[in-house]
Amino acid sequence: MQLERVVLIGCGTSLHAAQVGRHYIERLAGIPAEAESASEFRYRDPIIGPRTLVVSIGQSGETADTVAAMHLAREKGATLITICNAEESQAARVADGALYMHAGLEVGVASTKTFVASLTILQLLSVYLGQLRGKLDAETTRRLVDQMARGPGLIGEVLAEANLYSSLARRIGHYDNFLFLGRGANAAIASEGALKLKEISYIHAEGYPAGEMKHGPIALIDPEMCTVALAPRDDLRDKTLSNIKEVKARGGLVVAVLTKGDDEAASEVDFPLFIPQAPDLLMPLVTTVPLQLLSYYIALLRGCDVDQPRNLAKSVTVE
Ligand code: G6P
Repeated sequence: MQLERVVLIGCGTSLHAAQVGRHYIERLAGIPAEAESASEFRYRDPIIGPRTLVVSIGQSGETADTVAAMHLAREKGATLITICNAEESQAARVADGALYMHAGLEVGVASTKTFVASLTILQLLSVYLGQLRGKLDAETTRRLVDQMARGPGLIGEVLAEANLYSSLARRIGHYDNFLFLGRGANAAIASEGALKLKEISYIHAEGYPAGEMKHGPIALIDPEMCTVALAPRDDLRDKTLSNIKEVKARGGLVVAVLTKGDDEAASEVDFPLFIPQAPDLLMPLVTTVPLQLLSYYIALLRGCDVDQPRNLAKSVTVE
């Protein structure tokens, strides 16, 4: 069957995984793709049919909005798969097929390792679809799979520097407002970084595509606002660097996730956080972990319970 479109749905952290997945599907499989919150999707009248592949993403496979959105997709005759961590979940039962994360039990309410696992499965799915459709030849496929195998090592390099994040948390943990900026797939990672900070540190944080900064958030920049920018070396790094300069020009504090060795960008920011050079495919995995570490240490500093944040549930099974 010739797929015409891929629609990725999820809630919370899983929505951010869907947003990254959209980039992977378009780039690697060459299929038009979109990502949407399951809670919005379920109340629209989406135009989907047998040539639409709906991919639901969820750690639990039990989120009420996601499962309801899957039932809607089913009624409309879409091909339906789920990426989830929990086997025997409702999502796995409703879907035509399940791609399990096999990430093990995730204890913390805020998703972390399952976010990284979702991105990895989305890479595999995109490469698989790209291969099926003849978009990726054998050589390119092999190269991409080799790149994926480097993921754990690159994440390990970031984790090895956890003490840097702990000391940065002491410098910026008192800020009450954070703006996370990124472009491309890193716009979704910026949203995820802001969500993690909100969830476990109870700090007001916004995640924004950096190009949208001038359409509103720039009005908020002052010395009380901490901006966390994702500007690793990629095609969009220079554009994000311009945003960083705009923030600095208005007296804002800037923490930036940068590629090791990018001294030029480092000289523009207050606190550079260096990550290893990584292939484009892996970049969202590698930029995620610094933001998770930062939220973790800020939460500890503020005396928050990182595993059981107030008002949140691991799985939201009612509307
Ligand atoms: C709750 C959790 C979040 C999670 C979201 C979606 O809000 O607190 O951490 O991202 O549900 O959960 P799911 O199981 O569908 O990924």
